[in-house]
Amino acid sequence: MKKIGVIILISVLQSVASAQNISPERLSLDKGWRFYLGDIAFPEINTGSMSYANAKAGKAWGAAAPDFDDTKWRKLNLPHDWAVESPYDSTTNATQGYRKRGIGWYRRYFKMDSSDRGKHLELQFDGIATHCTVWVNGNVVHRNWSGYTSFYIDITAIAKYGDEINNIAIRVDAIDQEGWWYEGAGIYRHTWLVKRSPVHIITDGVFAHPIKQSSTEWTIPMEATIENAGKTITAIEVESMLYDPSGKLVTQASSTVRVNVLDQLVVKLNLQVKNPQLWWVENPNLYTVKTIIKQNGKEIDDLTTSCGFRTICFTADSGFYLNDKHVKLQGTCNHQDAAGVGVAVPESLWEFRIKKLKEMGSNAYRCAHNPPAKEFLETCDRLGMLVMDENRNFNTSPEYIRQLQWMVRRDRNHPSIILWSVFNEEPMQGSESGYEMVRRMNVEVKKLDTTRPVTAAMNGGFFASINVSQAVDVGGFNYQINNYDRFHKANPTLPLTSSEDVSGLMQRDVYVTNKKKNTVDAYDSQKPNWGATHRVGWKAIAERPYLAGCFVWTGFDYRGEPTPYTWPTASSNFGIMDVCGFPKTAFYIHQAQWVTDKNVIYLVPHWNWPTDSIGKSMKVMVMSNAETVKLLLNGKVVGEQKVDIYEMNTWQVPYAPGSLEAVGYKNGKEVSRCKVETTGQPAGLQLVADRLSINGDGWDAMPITVQAMDSKGRVVRTANLPVEFEIVGTANIIGVDNGDPNCHEPQKGNKRSLYNGLAQLIVQSAEEGGGTVTLTATSPGLKPAKINIAVLPKKAAEAVLVVNPPLLIEGWKVSPVTATKPDANQELAITDQNTWEPTKTGQLQNLNNGNFIIYRTLLVPYQEQQKNGGVLLLKNVTGKAEVYLDKKLVATKSNAEKSDIKVKVNPANGERIISVLIEGEQGKAAGLGGIVTIQ
Ligand code: GAL
Repeated sequence: MKKIGVIILISVLQSVASAQNISPERLSLDKGWRFYLGDIAFPEINTGSMSYANAKAGKAWGAAAPDFDDTKWRKLNLPHDWAVESPYDSTTNATQGYRKRGIGWYRRYFKMDSSDRGKHLELQFDGIATHCTVWVNGNVVHRNWSGYTSFYIDITAIAKYGDEINNIAIRVDAIDQEGWWYEGAGIYRHTWLVKRSPVHIITDGVFAHPIKQSSTEWTIPMEATIENAGKTITAIEVESMLYDPSGKLVTQASSTVRVNVLDQLVVKLNLQVKNPQLWWVENPNLYTVKTIIKQNGKEIDDLTTSCGFRTICFTADSGFYLNDKHVKLQGTCNHQDAAGVGVAVPESLWEFRIKKLKEMGSNAYRCAHNPPAKEFLETCDRLGMLVMDENRNFNTSPEYIRQLQWMVRRDRNHPSIILWSVFNEEPMQGSESGYEMVRRMNVEVKKLDTTRPVTAAMNGGFFASINVSQAVDVGGFNYQINNYDRFHKANPTLPLTSSEDVSGLMQRDVYVTNKKKNTVDAYDSQKPNWGATHRVGWKAIAERPYLAGCFVWTGFDYRGEPTPYTWPTASSNFGIMDVCGFPKTAFYIHQAQWVTDKNVIYLVPHWNWPTDSIGKSMKVMVMSNAETVKLLLNGKVVGEQKVDIYEMNTWQVPYAPGSLEAVGYKNGKEVSRCKVETTGQPAGLQLVADRLSINGDGWDAMPITVQAMDSKGRVVRTANLPVEFEIVGTANIIGVDNGDPNCHEPQKGNKRSLYNGLAQLIVQSAEEGGGTVTLTATSPGLKPAKINIAVLPKKAAEAVLVVNPPLLIEGWKVSPVTATKPDANQELAITDQNTWEPTKTGQLQNLNNGNFIIYRTLLVPYQEQQKNGGVLLLKNVTGKAEVYLDKKLVATKSNAEKSDIKVKVNPANGERIISVLIEGEQGKAAGLGGIVTIQ
């Protein structure tokens, strides 16, 4: 067979990245994914040629292959949790909230400009539940083994530029579980493409955490990890600037270094600061550190991080100190799912939740039992919430130590974080193995951060001769009321905190515990046998100065763990608030106990009881931080009691419709008052937005409450009615809920019934920006409610454009050159592997001994193209040409100059055959000089 000369026409553009100022670009990849729920088996590798190809880079098969037909897949934007979209299913796992998880695939396409060549390119995935494999351009690039760790993939070497299309394919395995709570399923946190100069600061590469040196002097011993992904060793200047909360430059430092090619270097700088504004829970002053890299005087990379000036100290005898001021930790533990959205939580909902907790007087948050989204920690820094950041997997093998290191490296600048927790309730906690593992984990943490203590949430093994408490800096108790004093006595020098307590059970505005109906009363009377009521739990902490504080299980209800019931209960009853953030009685118990600068008073139950309850004795509970409280029924004094701040105050009152009022007194003077009234029937609905406006950036979201009102405008707390919503304008309803753990209505859509008077919908702005959104709520027989929400124009995050790839036609063979015109549709013997040669388009063939060649390939158009047809585009065809589709002539090019050919493709199922006959001048190059696609 004759060899055919090949001239490569694709030119390689080398860009010089160091010449101009380059700012790193962090582009959202959230939009435009294609999703398939279920698994797609890989083809069986059963021939020699398949085995050979299978072993090569860029040759992934099946749904991991760049040209896989995904045109029929669902199109969606991230973050996405497919588990919350699925119906409740009694045959699935109760701990995961009776939701099917399973396997799913995601794919996305994007282009990179030719000018990006030479830059360092990184994909970032903030969180995928639970395990996943990622391919880029047919190369397997990452396998991730935790649903709670982010991962960053350097794609510089395999990226494609210009007209070529990049493909990401991700197989998500959510059959695997890492927890015993609802974990969601899918790409549920943000995704990014980061373009940086070849010499750049690596992701999470700046450590800037202030250290106090004297009463007025602080330093920030800065560390910046610089990577050189370029081709030459370059001298660079690394400069860090510290800005105060008002944006004023405070100080700066710099250093000149040389970073070896394809290597990393840690640059250390010292920022000196005098009398900074301190970071407090009540006044969380945040500074920013901007670190830049300069090459030949020009800025080529920068990274901005925030930090807070504060000291922390855990003592063995008197608990925790923030900036030398004693602070009792009034904390809650929480999982990461929220109403309507599962684990795909918009940032603004974190803010909503943290504000609710602060309103209750809470100052601490335990991320149970995994690292949270980074936006969550940023919100805690900004709002002033102390955080226990927790590692997920108790394992000291290299991969799991890597996960622990990732957490500390990502999170160590946050002033909010005061504790690293390395585990929760591990059976090995009272053993030598447990001790040895924690000893190692503690050292790994300290290599990255010596400023925060390491703890572990133990629920046993405390008195074993070797146990984990001997390897931590702060001992953590889960449900150990009876062991607090004994352990402290035996270990008087170890600082201690409760890491988890209470697990009290209640449902919002439910006042009867009925095992047949899966209800739990909200009098703080119910608890599992390992737990305590909210009142008992807090008293035990409050009365022990050596305990740093509490972390109540939990601040909010979460899906899964439906204790004390099972089906149909699908979410927990532990929350101080329900899954929507609507307060239960426990909210007011803690508010009375924890808020000191405001007068708190609240009473339960509601006062809407059926007529056959009249005269029957009703338990009334008043939560107040006054000195005494008086209870009045229809204006008549029922009784007056001294406030018991631990137990709260209760009365038995014979029910009579009307009003029930509690009045709080301090020094004999009225300071607070709260009233419940017997309302009329629901007459109308009311919508209450959490904020007056929403940012039109396509991300901002807010909860909106819908409630039933009587004709006098009072909330009817007993209404359980269906409600339908309509939204008009540039926003969408992304989830609905009502906080009822027994309710199986879908969380997606525009319908939700009220549960004890309330329901919630989550509204998220669309990207089009400004204008007004009108939301209407209707319920049969009730006056509808309508509100307008202003959508403020705000630019969406810079994003990577979505590309819908044409079908790239490859697998071409080319015939030998002939002097006479051949039959373009001639058949080749099946066994003939030799006369024609495999070739690529984009490169011309040299016609050194004739005028004619034929190109041929077989292809299966995308499913959408099979159904609707398309356009066949042959780019840069050089020479005269005849194009045959399924052996029929469909186009002719009669001139020899390089030009494109476009042909309509009729709809047809299955495989198609394309032959292109080229006629050129002998001795010159001709052929398919560009890509061939069906658009
Ligand atoms: C704890 C555990 C939590 C949750 C809680 C329920 O033992 O740490 O994750 O399961 O019990 O009471």
